[in-house]
Amino acid sequence: MTYMLGIDVSTTATKALLIDDHGAVVDVAAVEYSFQTPHPLWSEQDPDLWWQGAIQGIRQLLTRTGVDPARIAGVGLTGQMHGLVLLDGQGTVLRPAILWNDQRTAAECQAIHERVGRERLIRITGNEALTGFTAPKILWVANHEPDLYARAEHILLPKDYVRYRLTGAFGTDKAGAAGTLLMDLKTRDWSPEILEALDIPPAWLPPTHEGPEITGRVSGEAAALTGLQVGTPVMAGGGDQAAQAVGVGAVQEGVIALTLGTSGVVFAPVAQPFIEPEGRLHAFCHAVPGRWHLMGVMLSAAGSLRWYRDTLAPDVSYTDLLAPAEAIPSGSEGLIFLPYLTGERTPYPDPLARGAFVGLTVRHTQAHMTRAVLEGVAFGLRDSFELIKRAGLGRIDQVRVSGGGARSDLWRQILADVLGSELVTVNTTEGAAYGAALLAGVGAGVWPDVDAACEAAVRITGHTAPDPAASDRYDRVYAEYQRLYPALKGSFERLAEG
Ligand code: XUL
Repeated sequence: MTYMLGIDVSTTATKALLIDDHGAVVDVAAVEYSFQTPHPLWSEQDPDLWWQGAIQGIRQLLTRTGVDPARIAGVGLTGQMHGLVLLDGQGTVLRPAILWNDQRTAAECQAIHERVGRERLIRITGNEALTGFTAPKILWVANHEPDLYARAEHILLPKDYVRYRLTGAFGTDKAGAAGTLLMDLKTRDWSPEILEALDIPPAWLPPTHEGPEITGRVSGEAAALTGLQVGTPVMAGGGDQAAQAVGVGAVQEGVIALTLGTSGVVFAPVAQPFIEPEGRLHAFCHAVPGRWHLMGVMLSAAGSLRWYRDTLAPDVSYTDLLAPAEAIPSGSEGLIFLPYLTGERTPYPDPLARGAFVGLTVRHTQAHMTRAVLEGVAFGLRDSFELIKRAGLGRIDQVRVSGGGARSDLWRQILADVLGSELVTVNTTEGAAYGAALLAGVGAGVWPDVDAACEAAVRITGHTAPDPAASDRYDRVYAEYQRLYPALKGSFERLAEG
């Protein structure tokens, strides 16, 4: 038996997962941590937490399973995207990493649009400058911490810091690199034009690799700490969304991955470097060699339901909370929920967007409000589907739904009705770490390519078909939902001023 290890360096934990050469999960270990918000809008994490999490997670897996480390054919890395790790020439971390959900860089985003030109930036990188992306963070450090910036010699993404500690090699994957805003989407490598415009030395950036490529091998020091065998290959892997898509088999055009976690993600693989001209969808490289993807990100998806439960029904289980909402008619009798509780990214890149219940009357019950929350999230996700369709990607053959929220039959039905598409569930539920392990398996030659790995490992386990009558009703409510953000935007801005 051959095994592969997937490591997911997420915002809340480092998760290590072991699979066998049939794609079966052998065991999973997670080491949790938190992030710091030293100022409003800031979000930072000590990179050593990720490395210690990886050491402990790998050790736990090896001890519990008794798997011989010599049988581990490869390690695949995945993790939170867009974060900035700065190292000096000796490889020492210069400051806490600035994370994907940090919002401090509004001025730097504007500066990037001015220095490169917004249209040119979208044409090259596929994306407009968003506060969470890496490039504006680099400019922020240059502007606000010039002494520290002068000592910088290496820029890494979070999971690539773990790669560096495991192997001593600098490297990153194409999917993660695309999320920095420094990549030329067409060439799948760093853009000399963007680097020059932003005064970022190309030598600071690591080489970029396709997902299954070997980027280095486990060093003697890392082997002693983790229990892995010296020389075990470490593959590129992918940013968490691309690896998650590999994990559910969303690797070909037409198969969409819909993830209903704290945030909600609509991920559409494409065979070409497709760019949405307005830059409202993210356009990144896929972790599948030579493929790309479009992506819409909703910041509070299942996070909206969690907030609603914790705030208004803290002692009620999700099952008991959702059951009465089944009897409420589609459209919640005129009640609409806007899910912008932590601002929004797609289709409105607006940190000041706010949540709302609109249309409340004395007739509405808690069950109406619960249903409205589920529907509001579904409408927000439909916004991304509409952008994907309008961007010219005609084919949506299948929607593969995963994440905690997808466990609710009611929520899946509402999503199918709102999207007017059949949803399917799959057997692989371990997310990005699982996708990273599959990518490692491809790199190790267990499967000939990523398509074959997904075919071998991912099976469809359930179908949710849309109800045409409910879909018709939702088309009308969705049209009303779409009018609400533009109507309320001015109020959101004034309210945010306090
Ligand atoms: C993707 C994104 C998140 C982070 C954190 O664009 O911002 O998925 O990678 O998980």
